[in-house]
Amino acid sequence: MNNSMREHWNDVYSSKDVNQLGWYEKAPTPCLELLSKCKATKDMTILDVGTGASTFIDCLIEEGFTNIIATDISEMALSKLRERLGKETASLVRWIVDDITKPIHIQNLEGIDIWHDRAVLHFLVKDNERNAYLSTLKKVVKQGGYVIIATFSLKGASKCSGLDIRNYDENLLAELLGEDFELVEHFDYMYHMPSGEARPYIYTLFRRC
Ligand SMILES: C[S@@+](CC[C@H](N)C(=O)[O-])C[C@H]1O[C@@H](n2cnc3c(N)ncnc32)[C@H](O)[C@@H]1O
Repeated sequence: MNNSMREHWNDVYSSKDVNQLGWYEKAPTPCLELLSKCKATKDMTILDVGTGASTFIDCLIEEGFTNIIATDISEMALSKLRERLGKETASLVRWIVDDITKPIHIQNLEGIDIWHDRAVLHFLVKDNERNAYLSTLKKVVKQGGYVIIATFSLKGASKCSGLDIRNYDENLLAELLGEDFELVEHFDYMYHMPSGEARPYIYTLFRRC
């Protein structure tokens, strides 16, 4: 576990209300749009990497998905989300505190049908961090499984939450994932922070061949 990053994210989630965070979405519409292309059945396993306190999990539960795994380096983030959901609803989700750049638990998962990452990969600015992310993804996502990744686009900001980020377009993400992953769909999306500031994102959906 990268303890300085864990502390950073725990501080971030402790210091603000979730709906004031610079990545808060009332409705995660673009990811839900990509999810709808995955022909997902409700029992498919969805792994949300770097869940934070995202409303994506609320939506998956509402839609009736029964195999949801929420992971984050910040136990504070996951605890805020669990609190919002309430004990009974939260018990429908599997919760894992782990660092995707030094995974201990996530890498033991298998048969993941859908890998979902909104605004996490772009924080991995070092080669070894991205390599760990990719090798975990390739280990756990099943053949025919889907990968949804949303990051700041090439037109986007170069920092988020005070941290450097790496910008992408669909080609850079395709190159990163490699030839075993077919780009199914992609689009640019203009996200607006609670402050009103615009943040251009690239949204991608890949399928493992
Ligand atoms: C910008 S937030 C996005 C949160 C959520 N995906 C969303 O869309 O609201 C980035 C999230 O990634 C998590 N994170 C950052 N580095 C991580 C790492 N190395 N391993 C796991 N989670 C990480 C943070 O704790 C934070 O919740």
